[in-house]
Amino acid sequence: MKTIGIGLVGSGFMGRCHANAYSSVAGLFDVPLKPKLKMLAEANPELAKEAARSLQFERFTADWTELVNDPEVELVDITAPNHLHHPIALAAIAKGKPVYCEKPLACTLEEAKTMRDASESAGVATLVGYNYLQNPMIQTAREIVQSGEIGELFSFRGVHAEDFMADAQAPYTNRLDAEQGGGALYDIGSHIISLARFLVGPLSEVMGMQSTVIPERPEATNSKQMKTVKVDDQTHFLARFENGCSGTLEASWVAWGRKMHLAFELNGSKGSLVFNQERFNELRLYEANQSPGREGFKTLHSGPDHGTYSKFCPAPGHQLGFNELKIIEVTQILEALGGSGSSWPDFREACEIQKTLEAVRISAAESRWFSPDEMETT
Ligand SMILES: NC(=O)c1ccc[n+]([C@@H]2O[C@H](COP(=O)([O-])OP(=O)(O)OC[C@H]3O[C@@H](n4cnc5c(N)ncnc54)[C@H](O)[C@@H]3O)[C@@H](O)[C@H]2O)c1
Repeated sequence: MKTIGIGLVGSGFMGRCHANAYSSVAGLFDVPLKPKLKMLAEANPELAKEAARSLQFERFTADWTELVNDPEVELVDITAPNHLHHPIALAAIAKGKPVYCEKPLACTLEEAKTMRDASESAGVATLVGYNYLQNPMIQTAREIVQSGEIGELFSFRGVHAEDFMADAQAPYTNRLDAEQGGGALYDIGSHIISLARFLVGPLSEVMGMQSTVIPERPEATNSKQMKTVKVDDQTHFLARFENGCSGTLEASWVAWGRKMHLAFELNGSKGSLVFNQERFNELRLYEANQSPGREGFKTLHSGPDHGTYSKFCPAPGHQLGFNELKIIEVTQILEALGGSGSSWPDFREACEIQKTLEAVRISAAESRWFSPDEMETT
């Protein structure tokens, strides 16, 4: 079997998920290329050495440019913080190497457009880590929508709420730095926008409202020094979609009790669909015109009839986990590079998501409806 040399930048939460996905994918899927864990880059030599050992990479470096330039690295995978996505991706593309990058694509729309344009000019394959789109039940939701089973869509109610910043003593991190693509909208709102686009289609206009709920936070854990927060802790917005559907969307990282409430309700002329990532092996479907006294939602439980579920398990209801979504995601880029498919979502789609994020931010700042299309000048 042909192999592909992987260079991974970053070994935190996402780096470990990506490494696990490369190690597992060829045993589960009939992929055209088998990943070889060639080089790991981290912020300093100690971290790099330890991460390469535990994640089983052949070599390590504390300088990501060395990784990008290494001839054995054939796919550059970026799981470093947001502000490093743009320089690393551009360096890899300049070398003609494909790029798999975590979300959001970049810290600004300008950066995102540069990355999209560079990848398309160079003709390199790209993939962005909007992993929730890879869930077989989300693929099923899209099939239900596209087949017309719930009729013509008229409402999307979407939210991504978590509580990891709800404690006012949670310290300042790069997630709170506007220069580094911080804020709840960019960090987690990007996921609900990716789902809205996947299920309903492009958003034509948005009207946002953003607020900083905790205006200052300790500089570091237990520090008495406080730092001002300039990004949003929560964002709400109204949306109009190109197909006439309308919606409300929100992002919050200060919603006590919500651990992974990436959720939506879709209403159409013939039924409704309800989903919540905290129970992501389930999809709730309501079909109109049920018998009086017998009306209700039915729960679809994930199983071999849904997408790639059967690659992991032959029995229904046994459930997939988050790391399995990353394994499915990795198949996208391997199939694109092996010539048997295309990877999704790519830099173009991630740039469209970024346009929507920026449109929400501007609409909130200017208190007016704003179209993501106004963001595209090239
Ligand atoms: N797809 C998802 O569901 C999801 C979930 C969480 C985070 N993310 C995204 O993944 C990215 C990383 O987030 P995370 O939660 O894994 O963060 P993290 O802090 O856990 O990991 C980031 C790693 O990058 C390393 N790093 C920093 N500077 C570096 C440098 N110059 N060279 C090499 N490595 C460097 C850090 O030492 C750290 O180990 C972010 O873009 C984030 O938005 C995506």
